[in-house]
Amino acid sequence: MKKIFLILLVSLLSFSNLIAEEGMWIPSLLQKMNEGEMITMGMRITAKDIYDINHASLKDAIVSIGGCSAEIISDQGLLITNHHCGYSRIQQHSTLEHDYLTDGFWAMNKSEELPNAGMIARLLIRIDDVSLEVLKGVENAMTEEQRDVIIKKNIKEITEKAEKESGYEASIRPFYYGNQYFMFLTETYKDVRLVGAPPSNIGKFGGDTDNWMWPRHTGDFSIFRIYADKDNKPAVYSKDNVPYKPKYHIPISLKGANEGDFTFVFGYPGRTEEYIPSYGVDMNVNVVNPVIIDLRTEKLNIFKKYIEQDRLVRIQYASKAAGVSNTWKKLIGANKGLIRFDAIAKKQAYEKDFINWAGSTPSLKSEYGNLITDLEKVYGELAPYQKASTYLREAGNGVEIIRFASGFKSLLEAEDEAKFEKLLTSKQKDVASFFKDYHQPIDKEVFEKLLAMYQKGSDPAYLPDFLISIQSKYKGDIGKLANEVFKKSIFASEAKLTAFLKDADFGKLKKLQNDPAYELAADLDKLDEGKLQPQIKKLGNELAKLQRIYMKAQMEMQPEKRFYPDANSTLRVTYGKVKPFDPSDGVKYKHFTTMKGIIEKEDPNIYDYVVENKLKELYQTKNYGPYADQDGSMHVCFIAANHTSGGNSGSPILNADGHLLGLNFDRVWEGTMSDLNYDPDYCRNISVDIRYCLFIIDKFAGAGHLVKEMTIVE
Ligand code: ARG
Ligand code: GLU
Repeated sequence: MKKIFLILLVSLLSFSNLIAEEGMWIPSLLQKMNEGEMITMGMRITAKDIYDINHASLKDAIVSIGGCSAEIISDQGLLITNHHCGYSRIQQHSTLEHDYLTDGFWAMNKSEELPNAGMIARLLIRIDDVSLEVLKGVENAMTEEQRDVIIKKNIKEITEKAEKESGYEASIRPFYYGNQYFMFLTETYKDVRLVGAPPSNIGKFGGDTDNWMWPRHTGDFSIFRIYADKDNKPAVYSKDNVPYKPKYHIPISLKGANEGDFTFVFGYPGRTEEYIPSYGVDMNVNVVNPVIIDLRTEKLNIFKKYIEQDRLVRIQYASKAAGVSNTWKKLIGANKGLIRFDAIAKKQAYEKDFINWAGSTPSLKSEYGNLITDLEKVYGELAPYQKASTYLREAGNGVEIIRFASGFKSLLEAEDEAKFEKLLTSKQKDVASFFKDYHQPIDKEVFEKLLAMYQKGSDPAYLPDFLISIQSKYKGDIGKLANEVFKKSIFASEAKLTAFLKDADFGKLKKLQNDPAYELAADLDKLDEGKLQPQIKKLGNELAKLQRIYMKAQMEMQPEKRFYPDANSTLRVTYGKVKPFDPSDGVKYKHFTTMKGIIEKEDPNIYDYVVENKLKELYQTKNYGPYADQDGSMHVCFIAANHTSGGNSGSPILNADGHLLGLNFDRVWEGTMSDLNYDPDYCRNISVDIRYCLFIIDKFAGAGHLVKEMTIVE
């Protein structure tokens, strides 16, 4: 009896070891790969409820809005995503008079909803494995170039056929580094209107200080609506469009997320690199990341100084600063984590095992015997070019006036009259939007500081010409170069540039070639196109091939292991439990936060920590309506062990019944290394509790009519 119990216990234990919270899975393969495990972990719905091509399923409510995820929560096309995902839209509608970033925005009826030119909502129709068709005609002995030609041709044929037959858009993406290919049929709606956004002191509460951190108190949500033509089909904005009628919208749970609950996240993670060798991690940690971190530290200091002094500058630079800061802080966290948890050493140990395995039979040896040394060699050659390219992008093109000027290159290189006219009109429009959010004193300071760092930090062999000639021309003084550029360049003056473009023809535009800002942009281009990109492309091709073989080999080496494909901006499901964690010795993090923490963090003198009286009043009177937790408090955010990445922002986090618990919007700092090295003890995704969103909509903003549209499960 005892023995049986022991055996049972042992097998249960080893089974629970198998339960991996790591992984971003392909929705169409859930039934085969994950359903059993998901049910064991507590799920009460089936894989078919999540992804089905014959009946309405959850996937019909999951939307890509380009870079972020979103989900449909009413039968009238109401769409919810993060505040930071709607941020640039909210910002574009903001002026000093209508500062929606600061004050929030709420459409009290459909006629007040604001159109967003260029915003899309992409829905997935179906996913198909097309590996055999895409790889038809490909042979091992081919060069990468030959292989690419065949694959491109196959992809073109398959997608054209699929589009013709289905009437939907088709796109094909490589998985497992090109060992497999999947096709995605999608439908893209083009009229997406802003419906509501809380003020930044709720939607971005804690700002960049709290970003990537736990405990968190951010109400990171905003609301849009998809519009369609009268046949419910995609159409560009028209006042005659009507709210989109979705196949499915997600019911909302008021039960909250309790410790140990099963959850899953359904959305569009952008990019992970879990299967690259130690040399790739090394290049990130020691070569590329430090350059980005140093340059952005300087840039952010400059932004901050000006933003604090001037309300208009805050509006102009809020979105830019958030973007610069976000990657900066993530990389600091990722580097810390990768070093703290010995990611490189772990990979090296794994590579040792791999080398042993690859040497174990003559046939493996001939196929994979040199793989690791080849990878080492190519990464070694690539690293200096990646470093130079990072400087070019972050420092050179990190100066707004230079990047703006470089945008005119296409105009000067237009092939014919028609193209030229089209580009000219679009550039004329760009001018106004560029200057709307441009503050020259900031840019001038960025110019001086970042280019000086570029000059000092980059390998002299890969400096743009102007940073070499500056020695003789300006005695190395970047300040003098800056004075010259900002005084003489036409790109420094909205009035002059607008007048110049007004009735410009090709001959006149050629003059731009001698513009001092344009010249700098041209030098950067020359360096990039002449010295860097050809090498990066060549080595990138070699790497693509090696990495594809390495991926295949790893799967062969561990036939019993379930491999998930690295994220590639396609729809994925990841699942894990609501779980507290211990970030460091002596510290324990609970799995949720409440409004108490908002009051604790309040600081009326710091923009990101202002708490409005209205919110305080609701807190003091506990006026939470049906949105309070069972414990009587208002929960704000929670963490769970879901393997998410950038792009998963706005993704729904769902419970065992497939009901909405919240919106994913971040990861904890200790776990931002997870794109390269997932660790179940330290990686947590952060979500805003949907009940807090509803409370803000209903009680704070008085937009209860929106909640009435939704399907609420008590
Ligand atoms: N870190 C989250 C993400 O990667 C949120 C970013 C927006 N918030 C901010 N404070 N910048 O997108
Ligand atoms: N905030 C991120 C995004 O915009 C999600 C957080 C993450 O990288 O996990 O996608």
